[in-house]
Amino acid sequence: MSDHLFSPLSIRGTEVRNRVMVSPMCQYSCDGDGLATDWHEVHLGSRATGGAGIVMTEATAVEPRGRISPDDLGIWSDDHAEALAPIADFIAERGATPAIQLAHAGRKASKTPPWDGSVPLQPDEGGWETLAPSAVPYPFDEDEPPVTKQMTDDDIAAVKDAFVTGAERALDAGFEIAEVHAAHGYLLHEFLSPATNRREDEYGGDFEGRTRLVREIVSEVRAVWPDDKPVFVRVSATDWLPDRESWTAEETARLAPLLADAGADLIDVSAGGIHPDQQIPQTGPNYQVRYAERVAEETDALVGAVGGISEPAQADALIRNERADLAIVGREHLRDPYFALHAAEELGADEDVEWPIQYRRAVGN
Ligand SMILES: Cc1cc2nc3c(=O)[nH]c(=O)nc-3n(C[C@H](O)[C@H](O)[C@H](O)COP(=O)(O)O)c2cc1C
Repeated sequence: MSDHLFSPLSIRGTEVRNRVMVSPMCQYSCDGDGLATDWHEVHLGSRATGGAGIVMTEATAVEPRGRISPDDLGIWSDDHAEALAPIADFIAERGATPAIQLAHAGRKASKTPPWDGSVPLQPDEGGWETLAPSAVPYPFDEDEPPVTKQMTDDDIAAVKDAFVTGAERALDAGFEIAEVHAAHGYLLHEFLSPATNRREDEYGGDFEGRTRLVREIVSEVRAVWPDDKPVFVRVSATDWLPDRESWTAEETARLAPLLADAGADLIDVSAGGIHPDQQIPQTGPNYQVRYAERVAEETDALVGAVGGISEPAQADALIRNERADLAIVGREHLRDPYFALHAAEELGADEDVEWPIQYRRAVGN
């Protein structure tokens, strides 16, 4: 019998209870110090209570300059790990697998939260100089972008180290899956894409040079992450910039087996984010699934599909038809923290899930 949305997924020594993952989603709810707050505990805890197999944190910055906004989560000190530990514990206690997205925002850092316009923060407003492969700022429509610095060799070494120590701290905090964020126009994606990487050293130029930093970081994170626990990588399959030199689905297909060789167990396939001129050819249900299918053709690693997955039957069909191994659900989880439990009800898979005992009088089981 083929797998379905509520089939468990075994990755290395980790048993995930079903194929629904809460996609990483920034909450912009720290108090300027990168420390998790009650909001993160309730938000992520509710989604674990809601039945998802994997609950992933938002992009969690490995160093302060890697935050999109001053209110993003961080993992650059032991205090950050301590603040996250009860959240990881609660997620695991609820039967979900706690996962963390390790991130650096690169040239898209130093902005206000979306509800304040996602506009660049100037130095006198708490903004900072951003890091990027090349000194090319992200083009904002009206606002002066923050100063963007081309990373030196020392900067590259420091960022690699920050990903590794971030992973070690995440492990101490109790997370079971580490995802390296190499998508959406943030730092590691900026190295991949010729639209943002104009370097002429070993971290730029051809495919091998542009992919070097991501491959190195995945392999160094893998080296400190226990053998029985999974490492994921999120990529943008394409820049959606067909008319200029950019990162393409062909290059992603070529990169996928190299990421698997570097130690990635699952490639989480998203798209876009590098430049505001991007042309998204399709929106709506499953709008990025074809990129996940393309990646799956090229690698034995597991593949996660994300983007426009919001209906139970749709998510179930992705797994049953072997279009993906994991259905990664973002915005629908903001609308419905209990998406997985409701999906099980709708798909007649109630026996595969357990409502919290505290709520059983409401659901009759
Ligand atoms: C509020 C919000 C915050 C997000 N933050 C992140 C993030 O921290 N890391 C990331 O990789 N993607 C982030 N995304 C993208 C989502 O993870 C997901 O890829 C995207 O929303 C498409 O999936 P959906 O159609 O199910 O929402 C965010 C999306 C939203 C709506």
